[in-house]
Amino acid sequence: MTDTKPIRLSANENCYGCSPLALDAIQKKYKDVHLYPDVFPNSLKGKLAEKFGVSADNIVVGAGSVKIIDELIRTYVGLEDEILTFEKSFIAYSQLAGFYKLKCILAPLNDYRCLPGNLLPLITDKTKLIFIANPNNPTGTIINHAELEAFLKSISNKIIVVIDEAYGEYITDFSFPKSLELQKQYPNLVVLRSFSKIYGLAGLRIGYGIMEEKIASVLNANQVPYSLSYLSSDAAIAALIDKLFVCNSARANAEQRDYLYSELTNLGFKTIPTQANFIYVWFDNDVEKQRIYDLLLKNGIVICDLKVFGQEKSVRITIGDKETNQRIVSTLSK
Ligand SMILES: Cc1ncc(COP(=O)(O)O)c(C=O)c1O
Repeated sequence: MTDTKPIRLSANENCYGCSPLALDAIQKKYKDVHLYPDVFPNSLKGKLAEKFGVSADNIVVGAGSVKIIDELIRTYVGLEDEILTFEKSFIAYSQLAGFYKLKCILAPLNDYRCLPGNLLPLITDKTKLIFIANPNNPTGTIINHAELEAFLKSISNKIIVVIDEAYGEYITDFSFPKSLELQKQYPNLVVLRSFSKIYGLAGLRIGYGIMEEKIASVLNANQVPYSLSYLSSDAAIAALIDKLFVCNSARANAEQRDYLYSELTNLGFKTIPTQANFIYVWFDNDVEKQRIYDLLLKNGIVICDLKVFGQEKSVRITIGDKETNQRIVSTLSK
């Protein structure tokens, strides 16, 4: 083990930190944390509305996008109803369903992709909420605009479809859905985004959703007052202003993603091209996986063993900076 703190590549955080403007905003306010925040984060909502060219009435802000996922489930799914999503996808959907003793049906992936067509045979009268992570966590794959549009066209508009774009700013594939355009055409589509990933504010817990006014007003009416911390809202507003930070993070990630993918492939690892800030690697068996996990750990790098999410034979590695990725490659080359 190296003597420095291990590098954490297990939670898809931004390895470049956060915007200095967000840090300034926090510094300006941190001595006032004895004060309550605004009852509801209306100023942040206003800025998001401006950015996306929608009304503030279309926006819901929550303590992490996972909080909005929770609110959607609590609001729209009854005990007799069903939630539909994919296996090998973001674990919170089925975990939250489990907390509330709700049925969550998992569709299979195709080539590690969440193909919406695979959901179709599983839709019943009881299906109330569908979650599609795009890019998918942990596989990093995407569905494209045509695939999402065809799916929305083919299902009842009474089913709410949540497209979870927590990693949306990392995308370089132009076929990625223009989900806000689709949202205007299909009011049952809810688009979720997060400040935890490219904005580097995971510790402050801020996520948001863009959706039809009616759905937003129901969710907003159910929100707990003061749920966003005193520092979160200002930090998020500052982070939105710093487009350069986002742009640089996306560019560096794309470069490093190409590097890591090609090196891992050359080394014979089983992996798949990713559009996110992480890469999925699978093994023939758990023993082989554990050996690689331990080797990286010994060299100061913590990756995510997907065993915790019920996937025994695979890991997810957050794309690090150049130096870290070189360390991964040189460790694994040995
Ligand atoms: C697909 C996906 N959605 C949502 C989240 C949660 O984001 P937040 O930190 O905004 O709750 C994650 C976090 O890993 C994620 O992978």
